[in-house]
Amino acid sequence: MNYEIVLAPLQGYTDAVFRDVYFRHFTGVDQAMAPFISTMGQQRVNLSRLQDLVPENNLNCHVIPQILGNVSDDFLFLSKHLIALGYETVNWNMGCPHSKIAKKKRGSGMLPWPEMVDQLLDSVFKGLTCNLSVKVRLGRNHKDEIFDLLPVFEKYPIEEIIVHPRTGVQMYEGKVDLDAFIRIADSTSHRLVYNGDITTIRFFDQILCRLSGMRGNLQSTDYFSRVDRFMIGRGILSNPFLPSQIKSGRELTEESPGSRYPRNRESDLEMIKLFHDELFETYSSKFYGPLHVTGRMKGFWTYIGPSFPAYGKEVKKILKAKSREHYAAAAESFFAIRPLFTPAE
Ligand SMILES: Cc1cc2nc3c(=O)[nH]c(=O)nc-3n(C[C@H](O)[C@H](O)[C@H](O)COP(=O)(O)O)c2cc1C
Repeated sequence: MNYEIVLAPLQGYTDAVFRDVYFRHFTGVDQAMAPFISTMGQQRVNLSRLQDLVPENNLNCHVIPQILGNVSDDFLFLSKHLIALGYETVNWNMGCPHSKIAKKKRGSGMLPWPEMVDQLLDSVFKGLTCNLSVKVRLGRNHKDEIFDLLPVFEKYPIEEIIVHPRTGVQMYEGKVDLDAFIRIADSTSHRLVYNGDITTIRFFDQILCRLSGMRGNLQSTDYFSRVDRFMIGRGILSNPFLPSQIKSGRELTEESPGSRYPRNRESDLEMIKLFHDELFETYSSKFYGPLHVTGRMKGFWTYIGPSFPAYGKEVKKILKAKSREHYAAAAESFFAIRPLFTPAE
């Protein structure tokens, strides 16, 4: 079974610079969804946000743009700009959990309102000249809200439904609900993409087991399910090798059980350093303000830092840097001590 892996949109983290540098250093990810752009009303478009999606900033990866909004004309207006940039699919964000957004019936705030979603999809599909996918959660307040939406989704030629099996009010708390995801898989004819908490190969395997209705140890050749696309966000930020491990791990399972994930920690560190250095250089050349650059780089450490569990103090020093120069020096000293990269396994 072949899987496709999609880099999840993480506003403030997976911008065009991150995506471009990541795709030049690591393998295993097939596509990336860009963080959302909001509709603005009155047929206006935020040109600076659109910069993230211009083709020359996205040469190394296949990107799907995402829109947040709940007014069909505004959605169509923004889609037209994206289509003009060459995009063939846009994604509708129906999952954003933040209460400020949800209160306005945007993001996950749309999920309790199937009639509103029906009307919006009806108007949008009448005018849209590209494909549409949706990214959802189980509901806003309750995890069965999605089951009133699925019949609505059945009426439209939606390209795929990406499901993060938590409710909006849960934010990122509690366990993802795999049972609910499986019930959704049984209740829709649309292509389904799994998204949520894939941070280790072990958990990825567990999901495969559950999806294929199997118990016990899984051999990749035994796996069968119609879900073959997986979206991963924080897991890639904390372990950039994860997608290639997931994919190559599978080949190794078949050939040589027992040596499934052979790793050379020294060369892992070297690759992370090269990735980090290029990210820092590129942000430095694109952003004028030092706080912008150090801010972005601190975001990088938020997720990858815990993958150096024995070096918390050293990571904190990097996070304290206030200027570009201090940051560069702190990061250089960090890599010079050859810290052991040990992501969760
Ligand atoms: C900091 C942050 C920013 C996010 N920004 C977006 C976004 O712009 N659009 C979106 O659909 N989801 C967004 N998400 C949700 C992720 O795409 C994803 O659904 C969630 O993190 C669960 O996947 P993961 O466990 O693999 O990270 C964001 C999540 C985080 C933590």
